[in-house]
Amino acid sequence: MADADRMPPTDLAAIQALAAEDMAAVDALIRRRLASEVVLINQVAEHIVSAGGKRLRPMLVVLAGRACGAGGPVHHQLAAIVEFIHTSTLLHDDVVDESDLRRGRSTANAIWGNAASVLVGDFLYSRSFQLMVELDSMEVMRLLADTTNRIAEGEVLQLLHVHNPDTDEAAYLRVIERKTAVLFAAGTRLGALAAGADAEVQQRLYDFGMELGYAFQIADDVLDYAADAADLGKNLGDDLAEGKATLPLIHAIRHADAATRERLRGIVERGDAAAMPEVLAAIRATGGLEYSRERARAHAEAAQRALDGLPANPALDALRGLARYAVERSH
Ligand code: IPE
Ligand code: IPE
Ligand code: MG
Ligand code: MG
Repeated sequence: MADADRMPPTDLAAIQALAAEDMAAVDALIRRRLASEVVLINQVAEHIVSAGGKRLRPMLVVLAGRACGAGGPVHHQLAAIVEFIHTSTLLHDDVVDESDLRRGRSTANAIWGNAASVLVGDFLYSRSFQLMVELDSMEVMRLLADTTNRIAEGEVLQLLHVHNPDTDEAAYLRVIERKTAVLFAAGTRLGALAAGADAEVQQRLYDFGMELGYAFQIADDVLDYAADAADLGKNLGDDLAEGKATLPLIHAIRHADAATRERLRGIVERGDAAAMPEVLAAIRATGGLEYSRERARAHAEAAQRALDGLPANPALDALRGLARYAVERSH
């Protein structure tokens, strides 16, 4: 039987159940290491962390480790590190995007202001580096230093494209590789590395995470136009309001008739949130959501192919399941 024909768990609950014991340990560690003597740090960090989130990235670390036959405290620490980095980028991202809803709650910037959000984000970033140093592995530190540097590049690159209607699919992909996919790739690679997997297996897990990250961000960008807001726990339309051209809109600009294209270009330039109905109509008319979902699916399939040939086990199946979940999800 070919690997692709195996029947992995399809629903998130089954995958979460498989990772539950590891994730309980990761969560306890996150809580323990969040603490600071500064009250405001505890308040802000607790606010965003206790809201939950999907904890997808740490789950990828522990499942990648289990898929390679190992797990335990080092994996839990790596998983916590990756989630701290993710959380700090969310605190920063909501300031940059001027978002007021995250994980079904008011954002930290909406409650405590931009300065507090940025500074507590910095605290979580540097806390993640303290946790890294404890592991005393130059390989781990190199990978995570390169990864966080790349994420910062992605955020700045994205900033350069804001209000730019000439942003094309290639530029979009360069941004999402950096801002999202590299952290997924680092997470799955770290799981393999800490399990003592050889270089080839590490590379496969890295490729898996990278493709999954692309799929996940494209799906996120579709959800920003097409989700149920309550389900998503974030506001819809944030990307348009910010003048950020993501794949559905890039597709619409490219394929609309000349008059609509000019309208859409102006809307991106102005970041005209009130034009949402018009933008949605243009995206629908050009098949922009279907196209984007198709691209996300293609990346999710590429992710799964990267795992072909690795020895089968339930954790590997769960990773495949997460690749499918990334594009099927509603939040
Ligand atoms: C949000 O990531 C940022 C993106 C890369 C789209 P998640 O959707 O994983 O956020 P949480 O952690 O579940 O809230
Ligand atoms: C993801 O981009 C940002 C990071 C990777 C930090 P988005 O701006 O699309 O994320 P959301 O939609 O606010 O979660
Ligand atoms: Mg955002
Ligand atoms: Mg988004």
